[in-house]
Amino acid sequence: MDSNQDIFHISRRQFVTSAAAVLATGGFAREAEAITASFGEPSAQAKPDSVTDRGPFRVIIDTDPGVDDSFALLLAMRSPELKIEAITPVAGNVPLDLTLPNALRLVEIAGRTDIPVAAGARAPLMRRLVTASYAHGENGLGGAVFPEPTTKPVSTPASELIRQIVRKYPGEVTLIPIGPLTNIATALNSDPELASMVRAVVMMGGSLSGGNITPAAEFNVYVDPEAARIVFQSGIPITMVGLDVTRKVTLTDEHVRLLEATQNPAGQAAAKIGRNAINHNREHGYLVGPNMHDSLAVAGFLDPSILKLQDYYVDVETTGELTAGETLGYSPIAGDLRRRPGMEKDATNMPIRGSAPTLASIKTSPVLRDKFVPNTRVAVEVDPSKFFNLLIGRLSGNK
Ligand code: RIB
Ligand code: CA
Repeated sequence: MDSNQDIFHISRRQFVTSAAAVLATGGFAREAEAITASFGEPSAQAKPDSVTDRGPFRVIIDTDPGVDDSFALLLAMRSPELKIEAITPVAGNVPLDLTLPNALRLVEIAGRTDIPVAAGARAPLMRRLVTASYAHGENGLGGAVFPEPTTKPVSTPASELIRQIVRKYPGEVTLIPIGPLTNIATALNSDPELASMVRAVVMMGGSLSGGNITPAAEFNVYVDPEAARIVFQSGIPITMVGLDVTRKVTLTDEHVRLLEATQNPAGQAAAKIGRNAINHNREHGYLVGPNMHDSLAVAGFLDPSILKLQDYYVDVETTGELTAGETLGYSPIAGDLRRRPGMEKDATNMPIRGSAPTLASIKTSPVLRDKFVPNTRVAVEVDPSKFFNLLIGRLSGNK
């Protein structure tokens, strides 16, 4: 998508601090043994436990509201299976000065001001912020206008609140990032033991079948590839709900009509945002309504039967001039999701390896892996009708 990218200047201090943090913590150093261990036992991530048989599940939702984030947050706040310990806005779709008040508006609309909201990062770890206001409207809600929130965020910064909550409930908290991963990576960088205490990460982000902001990269990973790599290399059991499936769940006029018929404020707000977003897309020449990227990640956690997951080793391109933010997946089992129908089936996928060495270096790939050590369960198929039944049903108060 062309984008009227907003480039925000970050201060030198911010740049140096975040760069040093990334390099100093060896966040990339956590390797196969941690990953194998997390896959060595039935982990929450193997089948994010069906919440209907256990729960409530403690979760933290990290978000950049955002049209589809709004649907995800409203769904989560109307789902009794989730104990939302915090909502942590981050800069992404629009700057933090908008994602923070948008998150506060949504907890007020949903009647959930019991949930602490903590302000997160204003910029990626090592890059200038690129936003997606071309897709989410200047205010981040598709242009839908709601009153200024009266609720205030907590004073604790997002990454510190994430750290405190995970340490308070070791092994119980699932992180659900649905925006750039800056807050999550900052929390992991601040406390080297933290990754071992996180139950799982269920993220909207990445793609093994091409990008949406560049041919290679999905937006959340594109904005902060370094943060994404820290998360993928952390050893935490990860479920990646990427464009491979989220492209298949597009909001339609019919969905909005169902929401407009509801009486509850959350459904009404979703209808207003959805209507504005569909109109925005039409005015800007998009053929379809907004994709429900983020609420699919939440719904897939609520009901794992909505998604089919497949083990992959996933890594992130962080240095490409044209490909930074690309997520590459290797799975000798599943093959390459890039194959379009009718293309030759590869016997196996290619192991991930670094680029050819330049004359200035003799090493080939610092990331070559010659054996399959999965670090992520990638969503490869989705049941769209089951998803929308859950999403619209919950938002319209019928479920
Ligand atoms: O690529 C889709 C993702 O980018 C979604 O999280 C959407 O909200 C945007 O942040
Ligand atoms: Ca988002």
